Amino acid sequence: MNSILFVCLGNICRSPLAEGIAKQLSSLHDLKLTIDSAGTGSWHIGESPCEHSITVANKHGIDISGQKGRQVSVYDFDQYDLIVALDGSNYNDLKRLGCENLTKLGNYGFEGNDVPDPYFFDGFEGFEKVFTMIEVAVENLFKAKKLL
Ligand code: 4NP
Repeated sequence: MNSILFVCLGNICRSPLAEGIAKQLSSLHDLKLTIDSAGTGSWHIGESPCEHSITVANKHGIDISGQKGRQVSVYDFDQYDLIVALDGSNYNDLKRLGCENLTKLGNYGFEGNDVPDPYFFDGFEGFEKVFTMIEVAVENLFKAKKLL
């Protein structure tokens, strides 16, 4: 396992957090992993992560402000060892595009549940919950893949 791509809908709220958290964990343990994130949608290509995601990541010592939104491509399926969908609709969209090396982040400690989309939340509070869920699930994923 050398590379992981996290995929949500917009690539501005959840998967940028997953990317930032996974990169921090990877560098903490001196792992040689390629980690990136993307969205199934095209609305936010080239945009920075949403303000609340940048803020909650900062609070946890992770800088995601330099990330730029991009749309997932079928070429990513060969490029990355594992594609990790943040929710069931992302999973289904990726499956439909032909992705086979696919899993769902909620499979790692959250009984397959979706990471809820905080884009539609009211205010900042939900972002803390989403951050914690992603942080725990990413660590579980790394352990399940024998990276830790
Ligand atoms: P994300 O959140 O999938 O966690 O990045 C969203 C961001 C934007 C939109 C949907 C979800 N949108 O519809 O623009």
